[in-house]
Amino acid sequence: MSEQREQWQSTAGFIMAAIGSAVGLGNIWRFSYVTYENGGGAFLVPYILALFIVGIPLLMLEFGIGHYMKASAPVSLFRIDRRFQWVGWWAVGFTMFGILVYYCVVIAWCLNFIFFALYQPWAGMDGGANAFFFGEFLGASTEDGLRKPFELTAPRFTILVSLAVVWALNGIIVGRGLRGGVEPVIRVFIPMLFLLMIVLVIWSLFLPGAGQGLAWYLAPDWSKLADWRVWVEAITQIFFTLSLGFGIMIAYASYLPERSNITRNALITAFADSGFAIFAGVAVFATLGFMAQAQGQGVDQVVTSGIGLAFVAYPQVISELPFLPTVFGVLFFTALAIAGLSSSISIIQAFVSALSDKYEVNRTKVVGTVCTVGFLMGIVFTTGAGISWLDIVDHFMTSYGLVLVGLLEALIVGWVFGGERLGSHIEGAGSFRFSSHYGTFMRLLMTGALAFTWFGLHQAEDGLGTFLGRLFVLLSIAGVWLQRSWLDYSLKIIIPVALLGLLDRALAQ
Ligand code: PHE
Ligand code: NA
Repeated sequence: MSEQREQWQSTAGFIMAAIGSAVGLGNIWRFSYVTYENGGGAFLVPYILALFIVGIPLLMLEFGIGHYMKASAPVSLFRIDRRFQWVGWWAVGFTMFGILVYYCVVIAWCLNFIFFALYQPWAGMDGGANAFFFGEFLGASTEDGLRKPFELTAPRFTILVSLAVVWALNGIIVGRGLRGGVEPVIRVFIPMLFLLMIVLVIWSLFLPGAGQGLAWYLAPDWSKLADWRVWVEAITQIFFTLSLGFGIMIAYASYLPERSNITRNALITAFADSGFAIFAGVAVFATLGFMAQAQGQGVDQVVTSGIGLAFVAYPQVISELPFLPTVFGVLFFTALAIAGLSSSISIIQAFVSALSDKYEVNRTKVVGTVCTVGFLMGIVFTTGAGISWLDIVDHFMTSYGLVLVGLLEALIVGWVFGGERLGSHIEGAGSFRFSSHYGTFMRLLMTGALAFTWFGLHQAEDGLGTFLGRLFVLLSIAGVWLQRSWLDYSLKIIIPVALLGLLDRALAQ
């Protein structure tokens, strides 16, 4: 631990790695199905608000704390107060590892589908790509819907093989270290990924029916703002997509040099990530429009289970494409696989950093063990019941993992470490000042969100809860403007209240 801590070769290396972690399956596979299940354009408004109100401040927190402490999550939190170390281990050991296991299974599906795209086994099948994915491929279909979690089967051989390949790749890349493996690989993957996505978006815009899909995707539905479930999904998606609440961004920022513009790095990462998701959404929904037109159905009716969206809509389109279908398919699933791998290596890297900050460990051995255990734990998701497990574990991990860790981080840093102190550290390291236009913008945004909460309370029954809610809104609006630092206020009050409300609703469900 005393030896010189590794550092990123350059700021660009760090930003690309942070973007590499953020931009992943969450931006294409998860974003598109969550958007699909939440009414298309209706989802974008809460998503963008959640980005600003919860996502960006927490990203600044994780970058700032990692940079300040020069350590990954468990040790960073230990240094704030030794009693909080467990929060770091919870993030790294439970949440991060838990998500990693099924995340790699979805990457494995992508590898399989790169090959399927070459000969499109679903073409001409009864039920087309939908039947192929849930039936042939996953072995999840039964007479009455998808297999239940305890209706296990033997592992699906093709998935098992590519899962082994995924873990081998992870192991090789992370095993070579930050500068020898992660950084150079990311530097190739990220530009490639953005390029692939641009090609796919342009291509899909020329499909007949694309306009219908886009209209559904981009038409906002303000009334959805009143539905708390949409907020739960939006905030959860923001956590997942920005890799927040895993301790990953803490670990990555711990390798930054002394002088670093944290604010700028956080904004670049956040905007690159959501920009990518929204942009990739154009391709996905244009494609769905094409499919809907071909089947004479509504855009919201073409897929049976959202979680398989990317693996149903794209294959279906591939086999109906008038022009170079194989190329289109191979490009799409290659993009997904690259996005996934650049995120999975970030998870393993952060996990290994956490261990080696605390203990004398041999990197090769740790990486080897992590990859073997991850592979073995992943096997349950390769069975016919895998997709129902995936759905359950995803919901469980995001609520009890990400959101809970985010809540605790905000409380610990806001109240114990001090939000003002974090703000001055970030400014002192060479960031632009929070009191600048961005601060004013954030204050206005928070005031707007609070006013909306007031409006929502207005429609509720009168009672003590409603009264307290209104009191909270008024005090908060006053606080947002009277406090020197919006970051301090949002960590201390706004984010905890929002996340507590969300957890409460999610648990009551
Ligand atoms: N942010 C990644 C994505 O959007 C997901 C991820 C989860 C990355 C956990 C790292 C850790 O796909
Ligand atoms: Na993401």
